[in-house]
Amino acid sequence: MCGIIGYTGKRQASPIMLSGLKRLEYRGYDSSGMAVIHDGKIDVIKSEGKIKKLEEKTDGGKKPIGTVGIGHTRWATHGVPSDVNSHPHVSRDGDFAIVHNGIIENFAALKSELMRLGYTFKSDTDSEVIAQLLCHLFKGDAVKAIRELLKKIKGSYSIGILCAKTPDRLYAVRKDNPLVIGLGKGENFIASDFAAAIEHTHDFVLLGEGEIAELSADSVRYYDADLNLIEKDSYTVDWDISRAEKSGYPHFMLKEIYEQPKAITDTIRPRIQNGNIDLDGIDFKKSYLDSLIGVDIVGCGSAYHAGIVGKHFIEKHCRLPVNCELASEYIYSDPITGSNRLTVIISQSGETADTLAALRLAKKKGSRTLAIVNVVQSAIAREADDVLYTHAGPEIAVATTKGYTTQVAALYLLGIKLAGILGTEEGKRLSELTTELSLLPEKISEQLKDEYVGSIKTLAKKYSNHHCVFFIGRGTDYAASLEGALKLKEISYVHAEAYAAGELKHGTISLIETGTLTLALVTQSALFHKMESNIQAVSSRHGTVLAVASKANSKISSDADGMICIPECDDDVSPVLTAVVLQLFAYYVAAKRDCDIDQPRNLAKSVTVE
Ligand code: AGP
Repeated sequence: MCGIIGYTGKRQASPIMLSGLKRLEYRGYDSSGMAVIHDGKIDVIKSEGKIKKLEEKTDGGKKPIGTVGIGHTRWATHGVPSDVNSHPHVSRDGDFAIVHNGIIENFAALKSELMRLGYTFKSDTDSEVIAQLLCHLFKGDAVKAIRELLKKIKGSYSIGILCAKTPDRLYAVRKDNPLVIGLGKGENFIASDFAAAIEHTHDFVLLGEGEIAELSADSVRYYDADLNLIEKDSYTVDWDISRAEKSGYPHFMLKEIYEQPKAITDTIRPRIQNGNIDLDGIDFKKSYLDSLIGVDIVGCGSAYHAGIVGKHFIEKHCRLPVNCELASEYIYSDPITGSNRLTVIISQSGETADTLAALRLAKKKGSRTLAIVNVVQSAIAREADDVLYTHAGPEIAVATTKGYTTQVAALYLLGIKLAGILGTEEGKRLSELTTELSLLPEKISEQLKDEYVGSIKTLAKKYSNHHCVFFIGRGTDYAASLEGALKLKEISYVHAEAYAAGELKHGTISLIETGTLTLALVTQSALFHKMESNIQAVSSRHGTVLAVASKANSKISSDADGMICIPECDDDVSPVLTAVVLQLFAYYVAAKRDCDIDQPRNLAKSVTVE
């Protein structure tokens, strides 16, 4: 989704904003722009397309000249991607420039009102109304005009504002959209996420809902909705800048696939002490768990897929019914929940609009909420009753890899912990599972050796021209298939479908014809013979089968056209190792098809609108 960077200090703002915008590219965008105050006037340069075009128009950041500015990457919601619809938008008198993330829901009514008053609009965006409204509301005090603006606009937003009448200042507000203030020495920043400013500072303040920040080079003032000055605490983000750079890898996605041994170690190691699991002190009393009639796991996309893996694991070991739901469905289903259900909310970014709405709804209905989140201090992390950070580090590629596997690892930790308290699994079995979990990073490292990766790359190249691919599996393998199909779809644009293997014969098998590729996941020994029949059903219709199997099930190779074996592991934790294979497969198919792997078309990293 859209990204914001803003700067006030003593340096030329444009190059700082250009490099900040590049760090926001991963969020997904279709145009970019910047506005800078110079000699009491606001200069704007913007362009449809990639930041490279903006870089050319600004002569590599040499213009516009000035030390106070705002920059934006736009992901179109209202109005096509074009120069004129790009941000910043400027008020008719040229005194205000704004950048906006989110949606102004009542923009049409506000626009008509302003048009009646003689205002004209250049763009088709909802955002331009903010600039014109500020012009209309300004009576000499920018902060007061912003407060009046907040009373009028409805929707979700983070907004950066320049006012030519206060040329050393920059303003920011937010509601249901992320925005942080970066604190430097003799300079300050606003950013939609700290990746945009982390090369300049590690000290951040999270702007609260409805608060107004007024930044100059040497100070930041925060106001509440009644314009009282308020104090805000800062926090330190210890993400190393190199972790937000490609470090020699051709794509962030590949880098992040290779970071998985460390990421999973960071998720689990601090929480396993002498074989016992401590979830950062989160207290689950036996009496509370006994009172539960079920667990709801809620997320979107890959986070939802991780949830389905978690559902299998928790149901099996905790004997608690688990319902896994897409957040976008959950929020409009009038969910039957309350204090007798635990709600587990999963989100890498911690800002996904549907997931955040699901969290709020579950809380409102009296359910205890536990968030599994990567981004520290994100909205979901702040609002949940308890939070279990995945500690995966910055994930830049739109297609999640380490974000997903660390979520699965966190769910395993949760399942083992709950089973221990409930006494639903023998101690010996829980120790085995804990050990298996601790061994996952080592096993992924084996998978990341050149030979193993090379064999996946060869198969991916061989099948890269297929237009339709099925992923099938049973039980937890079906859950892993869902994620494998999504990975392939989103980065290679190949149509892929995941099917519970037993469902094939209920319809989908009609699509199997000579050469149709099916990836069959065969890691569940108890379901081996069932999968064998499903694979034969595909082969006998001249479909091509590529099996991803555990060592114990490798005899499936005689029924398949090709096979990739995952390292030996307990069947209950195989989805993490299967995921690595399917991520690499999708990556190399997309690379062969010359796709924009880190920023696939139409997709955004963090989906902060419904
Ligand atoms: C996965 O590769 C996706 N890009 C997407 O499905 C993602 O998992 C989903 O949008 C949820 O994001 P979140 O984890 O940040 O909430």
